[in-house]
Amino acid sequence: MAPRHFLTLTDLTAVELHALIQRAIELKQMQRAGTIYEPLKNKVLGMVFEKSSTRTRVSFETAMAQFGGSSIFLSPRDTQLGRGEPVEDTARVLSRMVDVIMVRTYAHDLIERFAAHSRVPVINALTDQWHPCQLLADMQTWIEHRGDIRGKTAAWIGDGNNMCHTYISAARQFDFHLRIACPEGYQPDSAIVKSGGGHITLVRDAFAAARGADLVITDTWTSMGWEEEQEKRLRDFAAYQVNSEIMAQAKPDALFMHCLPAHRGEEVSASIIDGPQSVVWDEAENRLHAQKALLELLLYK
Ligand code: CP
Ligand code: NVA
Repeated sequence: MAPRHFLTLTDLTAVELHALIQRAIELKQMQRAGTIYEPLKNKVLGMVFEKSSTRTRVSFETAMAQFGGSSIFLSPRDTQLGRGEPVEDTARVLSRMVDVIMVRTYAHDLIERFAAHSRVPVINALTDQWHPCQLLADMQTWIEHRGDIRGKTAAWIGDGNNMCHTYISAARQFDFHLRIACPEGYQPDSAIVKSGGGHITLVRDAFAAARGADLVITDTWTSMGWEEEQEKRLRDFAAYQVNSEIMAQAKPDALFMHCLPAHRGEEVSASIIDGPQSVVWDEAENRLHAQKALLELLLYK
């Protein structure tokens, strides 16, 4: 049977996504209670990282350890992938040894090729286009703090990047409205915007995006791979900082999220990320619980 991959949020149905988040909440309670639960005993996760990571690496390694399994960190610096071994061959070989593989890379088509040649489930741990694991944690965080997200309005302010794309996909699957404000030239991919249908509104002005919103989200102005544009981006994004003026437009009880790492004084002011509306630390912690639920779904039969 072909393995089940998780390359974008649309690899799971809306029903599966909701169930996964409920399970993540349960797994979090179990861990808090000190319950030993090892459904992945003897299972091994291969982790291919072509870009840096703190949260993703630690959350996946911890998830596997707590589940009774183990993980192998693979970087292009010390694997043959970094010396030009084809991704298809790497996928064939790794997937004959490990039980599940997580990949963080640049072009999304690389992970698609990897998955097409893998005998075991492949998880997208971030590509230039998508970051679906982060959205599992974000939706868990919303639900824990505020309950159902259906019918709510989220405001994405900043770069039309991989996180923005994944929020578009989430808006459709979790049935909320997403207002997106990006500077000219930094809009999300138009085909992805189209796929969000009536759930998405594009505006130019950050204040207009935030007005009446239940949730305000941003991300770095310079994603991994775009470092050469950093100076220009600092200028182009100057009017898109999430600060107290922007948050004042949103509902008084609006939450603030950021996938991290954050740059205080750039995409977000310290007053907001370190303030009472910010749930970024819960959001980061939930990477662990949401990915445990994902690993369980993909592997535990
Ligand atoms: N949010 C996130 O994916 O963080 P890392 O880059 O540290 O893994
Ligand atoms: N958009 C950011 C997310 C980092 C977790 C990046 O791709 O660098």
